[in-house]
Amino acid sequence: MSDTTQKPADKKLRVLVLFNQVGEDWYEKLRQVDPKTLKFEPEYPIHVPTVAEECEDIARALRRAGYRARAYNLQNDLRRLERVLRRSRPDVIFNLVEFFHDDAGMEAAVAGVFDLYQIPYTGSAPFTLELCQRKGLTKRVLLDYGIATPRFKILEEPAVPAKFGLAYPVIVKPAWEDASAGVDERSVVYNDEQLGAWLPHVFREFDQPMLIEEFIDGPELHVSVWGNDPPLMLPPIEFDFSEMPEGHPPIVSYQAKWDPLSEVYHRVHTICPARLSKRVMRKVEEVAIHTYEVAECRDYARLDIRLKGNKPYVLEVNPNPDLTEGVSFMESAERAGHSFSEALSRIVEMAAERKPQSTPAPGTTPGQDWIPGPLPTAGTEPSEDAREE
Ligand SMILES: Nc1ncnc2c1ncn2[C@@H]1O[C@H](COP(=O)(O)OP(=O)(O)O)[C@@H](O)[C@H]1O
Ligand SMILES: [Mg+2]
Repeated sequence: MSDTTQKPADKKLRVLVLFNQVGEDWYEKLRQVDPKTLKFEPEYPIHVPTVAEECEDIARALRRAGYRARAYNLQNDLRRLERVLRRSRPDVIFNLVEFFHDDAGMEAAVAGVFDLYQIPYTGSAPFTLELCQRKGLTKRVLLDYGIATPRFKILEEPAVPAKFGLAYPVIVKPAWEDASAGVDERSVVYNDEQLGAWLPHVFREFDQPMLIEEFIDGPELHVSVWGNDPPLMLPPIEFDFSEMPEGHPPIVSYQAKWDPLSEVYHRVHTICPARLSKRVMRKVEEVAIHTYEVAECRDYARLDIRLKGNKPYVLEVNPNPDLTEGVSFMESAERAGHSFSEALSRIVEMAAERKPQSTPAPGTTPGQDWIPGPLPTAGTEPSEDAREE
């Protein structure tokens, strides 16, 4: 759990904080809701930052640390991305893109564009982003390396197989999603009948295979790891489910994670560092770092782990986890003594060390007319540029 080596930052680096958000952000609408109208006592604020605001916060924190950083919304438009990379080439892309055209499977393809342009970017390479998007395949790889993960089956259709082979209770998760999509209080089922009733519903909503996993009843840990040589574990977060509303299993469901209008969002708490003995902490660290290496994670990642009888079981690998200030990865970083802007700076420096292997791609302009202000207007497409900025 020791520190990564701090290197002096090249404060002149131009950092493009890239995200992809189209349409209205639901959190914006939430601002009109008066917390007093809720039918329960909210523990946390219900007015939370939008994706765009979070990315602006990251750019601002990097500017505070001395970088020339700006946030840029990809807006599902590859030409828009190409224009910014060609005309105003950043030194480092801070990659916060999780979807393209609403498809989490395209996350890796976007990182592939940065590789083709030979621009260093934060976080994992396309291979890892792609692998971890396939939960079942990742679990098979982890098992092959001797890393424990809950016993599971992948179902291609909504029928309970005759020879099922798993011990109830089990949890049903869409196999290609993340961020708890498709996981709610009905996802934990206790017998064939309940499973059979739930499957058609999730298959209808998510047109993809389902991962059925044995439910691990022990503590849940979110374990952040960062660095490359060597990777290091940050103080893990433990979830406190002791105040869960009646009928909600002790899981981080979609509502618990994202919906401030739902009571369960206010009843799941975090404890950092997790309350583990030194021995168990060491075991968790060993498994987390091994998993990070096996999945070829780079710069930073978060492993979701549950303990059964003090043995860590890896639920999944998040190579592009939430970096909102004060939560998840950043809660652990803060606990280890790294301020938000310092933790972000370290991640930028890790990426910056991966210098492009050759000269910039033809047609790209290293960092001209960088910041602040609109993109330079090209003679060929003046009207489009005027529109996008
Ligand atoms: N096998 C399991 N046993 C107990 N809880 C689980 C299990 N799998 C998932 N969960 C719960 O569901 C949540 C979401 O599942 P996870 O595998 O992390 O997928 P994702 O976060 O990508 O949607 C976890 O944070 C955990 O609370
Ligand atoms: Mg998870």
